[in-house]
Amino acid sequence: MSNYMDKLTKAEDTYTFDDFLIKPGLSSIEPKDVTLETKVSTNYDLNVPIISSAMDTVTESDMAIALARQGGLGVIHRNLTVEDEVNEVKKVKFANELAITDVITISPDETVEDAQEIMDVEGISGLPVVNSEDIVVGIISRRDIKPLRGKNLNRKVSEAMTHNVVTIAESSDTDTALDLAYENKVERLPVVSEDNKIVGIVTMKDILERKKYPSSVRDSQGRYLVAAACGPFDMDRAMALSDAGADIIAIDSAHGHKTDIIESVGNMKKNVDSDILLGNIATGKAAEDILKADIDGIKVGIGPGSICTTRIVAGVGVPQLSAISSVADVAEDSGVPVIADGGLRYSGDVAKALAVGANVVMIGSLLAGTTESPGEMTIRNGRKYKQYRGMGSLGAMTGGVGAGKDRYFQNSGSNMNSSKLVPEGIEGVVPYKGKVSQIVYQLMGGLKSSMGYVGAKSIKEMHEKAELVHITSNGISESHPHDITITNESPNYHPRQ
Ligand code: XMP
Repeated sequence: MSNYMDKLTKAEDTYTFDDFLIKPGLSSIEPKDVTLETKVSTNYDLNVPIISSAMDTVTESDMAIALARQGGLGVIHRNLTVEDEVNEVKKVKFANELAITDVITISPDETVEDAQEIMDVEGISGLPVVNSEDIVVGIISRRDIKPLRGKNLNRKVSEAMTHNVVTIAESSDTDTALDLAYENKVERLPVVSEDNKIVGIVTMKDILERKKYPSSVRDSQGRYLVAAACGPFDMDRAMALSDAGADIIAIDSAHGHKTDIIESVGNMKKNVDSDILLGNIATGKAAEDILKADIDGIKVGIGPGSICTTRIVAGVGVPQLSAISSVADVAEDSGVPVIADGGLRYSGDVAKALAVGANVVMIGSLLAGTTESPGEMTIRNGRKYKQYRGMGSLGAMTGGVGAGKDRYFQNSGSNMNSSKLVPEGIEGVVPYKGKVSQIVYQLMGGLKSSMGYVGAKSIKEMHEKAELVHITSNGISESHPHDITITNESPNYHPRQ
């Protein structure tokens, strides 16, 4: 006797963002009192629970830098050659190092001409002069060389350099660095170890930038955190990204709950220094299985994204709030963070994702169309737009290196004709939204407000205290503005399309 009827009658009820609201509770918490610190992976914390989607219309180095400055994290997409993706990672890592550690130095016995050539080739304005024991004995800058122009540049560096070098100890903080730089009117300070050997150099620009972004997230060397996407079987790319300094590698697959992926990623984990996020999954059972690969974070979401058609094309998926909560129930005991990927349209959705156990949200459409997202602006009917497309769309699968094809398991033959591809995403445009910092500000403002209503002063408390109420479609209609024609655009609300 078959049990097909049971498939329907015993099917789980599942829910998404619009099905619930967060219940207000007794609170002594003001939005300004809350902290948004959270774990994104076993070894990395963020100051805001936002990471950007690894999509070719969302995240390259500009987005990753902008998010790291705000306390979030960018995941560089992989519709790029390994070399290009590595370069994007490096751009983030070199964007704002307090101390440049691969510092280029010169010996006092080399010539001024050599010094000038190094500065020209490297595009820098000064070089610390170090002896054979790496001890700083001077500094030579363009200012020292300028008076010699047209004269003999073959003289030794030791004859032209500034001998009195102001250095800074390795353990110093930004305030000390800033005071020293101001007091001595210098642009660059060599950083020295206890035994006076050079270990790096800091520039005034770096110090000021660091002070400007107090919430920024950085690695142990003071460089911005960055993540990068990688296919589950692409060991060469994973190793290159890890070597380039990617703090986190986000394994990018439409269906992470696959035996060959779990095995391959478990193996990858042993070969790279970066933390590894694995996804995407949508069930507690999948979480149990992928945790066997010793991963550092789990990405949740099959089909909730604004550009996704997986649920329509394949008829597969789990509404996102149910997916997040079922994965979080399993992941919490293991201490592995949960990243809720896709489907977020408003700051209230971020709050709901966290309320059901997510540690971080991954966002595509809300960050697409910003100044820092890749792509050109276009004008339509007098309004500015930028392209946004699914990585499983025809455009993404046939453009770049075609990474979307393998995300959606369509890699059979590199010359595969585009008419043979079965897209699981669409291509379109989203309105231009200005700077990422403004989007993050509004999203986090809404989240802090939510935490104030709940009485949660941290994301941990949000997990523990937030209760939800199940609402009807009438509840949703009541929630959105109604019985009014909106005349002025709001920075954090746009009517649903
Ligand atoms: P949002 O809603 O933030 O979602 O725009 C972004 C997330 O959607 C996923 N993604 C896709 N899913 N087909 C899909 O089914 C696609 O073509 C596609 N492209 C991206 C991805 O997880 C992203 O973070």
